Amino acid sequence: MIKLDTFRYALSSYSKFLWRSTNAHGIHSPFVYDLVTKCFYDQKKYPQYAILHTIRKELGRSNHIIQVLDFGAGSRAPGLQKSQTRRVKKMLSSAATSAKRQRLFVRLVQYFEPENILELGTHLGMGTLAIKLGIPEAEITSVEGCQNTFEFTKNNIERWLSKTMPADKPLKSGQIKLVNSSFAEYFEKRSKDRDAQQKISSQKFDLIYLDGHHNGPATLDYFEQIKRQVHKDSLVIIDDIHWSQSMTAAWNKIIKDPQVTVSIDTYFWGLIFFRKEQAKEHFVVRV
Ligand SMILES: C[S@@+](CC[C@H](N)C(=O)[O-])C[C@H]1O[C@@H](n2cnc3c(N)ncnc32)[C@H](O)[C@@H]1O
Repeated sequence: MIKLDTFRYALSSYSKFLWRSTNAHGIHSPFVYDLVTKCFYDQKKYPQYAILHTIRKELGRSNHIIQVLDFGAGSRAPGLQKSQTRRVKKMLSSAATSAKRQRLFVRLVQYFEPENILELGTHLGMGTLAIKLGIPEAEITSVEGCQNTFEFTKNNIERWLSKTMPADKPLKSGQIKLVNSSFAEYFEKRSKDRDAQQKISSQKFDLIYLDGHHNGPATLDYFEQIKRQVHKDSLVIIDDIHWSQSMTAAWNKIIKDPQVTVSIDTYFWGLIFFRKEQAKEHFVVRV
């Protein structure tokens, strides 16, 4: 059961979203119109969807128990917030990227073709996997603080990908880099390496998915770090922007940032672009 105040906030923020949101018809920016019509609303059934579905079914049946170290803001379900031992099938239903958003990930990465991707919050690997299947040639770094979750997912991802990657696009080592670290330590190490002139750490990311530690002030801190890791054509996706009042407040601050030009609120995900050729504009779009 979801706590009453969380439930009330979700209800009121979702009603506000529905009231303010539009579909493609209300969008005048060609960049956003194309994204919405050719990617968000693309109805084609891509072969990756079936693979993702099979893997979700496997995890959805898993009674495996992980001793979890909670690095983030917990889960919406109160039972899970306190508990340190979590059943994989519960973790899947309470905190993983949903099947619908996994499919959107496949379309998004096929549409933008990012080469260098960072995910903050690996969890059971649902985002990592959708991205990898969508764009096998990209390099993905995914950061997870909980060591047991990290190990469980590392083994699974290797097993799944060895079975599912197309024969003409085998997984090359180094293309998925799973890192067991807190987000703060990861950024700290990256900036130290950059100072030490290590080429790999001065590379900017084309896509960053922030999906962990859903807390307003923490999200703002990570966004400051993220801004140093992007270029003008990068896309940043922030998960659960309306998870709580403090997350909505953080999102409202982020979209006002002068470096941000286009921002899109899809209720669950906030998408941010830094395109210099585009006038600053905010969109609220139903996906
Ligand atoms: C919502 S889940 C991520 C879901 C995943 N991205 C997916 O696509 O299914 C958040 C994950 O981030 C991790 N996490 C949260 N805060 C963190 C932090 N500050 N440092 C490292 N990991 C963190 C949690 O342990 C959890 O596994």
